Amino acid sequence: MNAKQKRITILVVIAAVIWFVAAPPRWWLNLTKKVDLTDPAATGELLVQEYECTNCHIVGSKGALKAPNLNTIMSRLDDVSVRLWLRNPRAVKGNTAMPNFHLSDSEIEAIVAYLELLNNRE
Ligand code: HEC
Repeated sequence: MNAKQKRITILVVIAAVIWFVAAPPRWWLNLTKKVDLTDPAATGELLVQEYECTNCHIVGSKGALKAPNLNTIMSRLDDVSVRLWLRNPRAVKGNTAMPNFHLSDSEIEAIVAYLELLNNRE
């Protein structure tokens, strides 16, 4: 490989890394962030802790008031909208403060199962 080819190769690798970090494709998320759905609500509860949703939302018995309370979200919003919020908040509301956590499909299913459980408890 000559010097120019090396430079181009390095640039392509850098571009690929930036792409995967900034906007990871769904197949990649599903490959690398797959969670076990044997007990989806329990997994969802762990994910809510892991991603610190309670820094902004009330979820379960604790949380902050910067964002809507999620305990009754499943009766306030339809399933499809909740999933879309989790998948890509900016697709629902362009200027939202809700971060994109780049969740995999199985992580979204688990979180929705947990939110459904909380909703049924209310
Ligand atoms: C940095 C703060 C922040 C974090 C952390 C956060 N959210 Fe949000 N979220 C928001 C804000 C703000 C909104 C309201 C969006 C708006 O109206 O602009 C929102 C909206 C939502 C909605 C739609 C609510 C509605 O009433 O329409 C859902 C569902 C949601 N978030 C789930 C989650 C989950 C699950 C997590 C953790 C994985 C999470 N959020 C983490 C800030 C946050």
